[in-house]
Amino acid sequence: MNLRLAFVLISFVLSVTTGLVLSRGRGAATGSAKSGGKPVIGLSMDTLKEERWIADRDLFTEQARALGAEVQVLSANSDDTRQLRDVESLITSGVDALVIIPHNGEAMARAVEMAHAEGIPVLSYDRLITNAETDLYITFDNVKVGELQARFLAEKIPAGGRMRLVRIYGAKTDNNARLFKQGQDNVLQPLIKEGRVEVVFEDWAEDWKPENAKKITNAAITKAGQNIDAILASNDGTAGGAIQALIEEGLSGKVLVTGQDADLAACQRIVAGSQTMTVYKPLTRLAKSAAELAVKLARRQPLIARAETDNGRIQVPSVLLDIVAVTRDNMRDTVIADGFRKEAEVYGK
Ligand code: BGC
Repeated sequence: MNLRLAFVLISFVLSVTTGLVLSRGRGAATGSAKSGGKPVIGLSMDTLKEERWIADRDLFTEQARALGAEVQVLSANSDDTRQLRDVESLITSGVDALVIIPHNGEAMARAVEMAHAEGIPVLSYDRLITNAETDLYITFDNVKVGELQARFLAEKIPAGGRMRLVRIYGAKTDNNARLFKQGQDNVLQPLIKEGRVEVVFEDWAEDWKPENAKKITNAAITKAGQNIDAILASNDGTAGGAIQALIEEGLSGKVLVTGQDADLAACQRIVAGSQTMTVYKPLTRLAKSAAELAVKLARRQPLIARAETDNGRIQVPSVLLDIVAVTRDNMRDTVIADGFRKEAEVYGK
């Protein structure tokens, strides 16, 4: 019997009223010999070039170590071939569980196959691995992120007036970027139909890069002129790129700009007035819960996931965490109260 078959045979999913109780794996892992019996978790990351992912890595690693596991981290610099190689080398080094933050959710289906061929379970972290038998998914409510961004702008449309809007989506390769757009569409489509919102320009920022968002904003201004009311940027990195273009055009502070992640630079821009809102996603909760789940997967212990996400192949048992919209008015009550940002850093005191 091959390992994958053994993996499937001893897997069971049991529906109970409180959610799904899930246990998958090839039997109790004894821990990697290399780590002196400690379970080893491989963390394969898309990138470490954005502020949030450094925090994710550090919080995850700290919690997994506190729970008695070893963590090996590799980052692929937004390159699918490299991320597949990373996964291969983590598998070869004998990890007991894999946690993957895919650059491209579709491309990493292959990584799940490779891991399963060796009986290693895979946790999809923040971004969904699609069209694969992904064992578990932990993320925020990504559709709601888009809804909060768009609802914030909708509330700023003057009574009887309309809003000229530039839309900057994230990386097409990231399933989350599509979910953020879906949430934005939920709120915007009726307003577009009523003529209260006019989308003057829209595009996807390749690899979520701020410089691509800057180019999109430049192109929007070239096309639509300076008469732009708002930029629906899908995260803080792209918001930063858009704001650079606005500064060059003398428009900074005059155009509403959304974001997400509560990056320090974005929080500073919000209190200074060049960015208008962000979405705070409590990374500490995500990273710590993911570490707890990954350690359980590595030890082949049962775990609970209350939700499911369709990834095109299966319903992936999922853990979905809540989020909150942040503006100048609630900065202190949210990211600062939660200890995610320090008052002195945000306000420069
Ligand atoms: C994450 C965002 C992040 C973006 C760019 C998305 O998948 O959910 O938090 O800003 O990727 O890295």
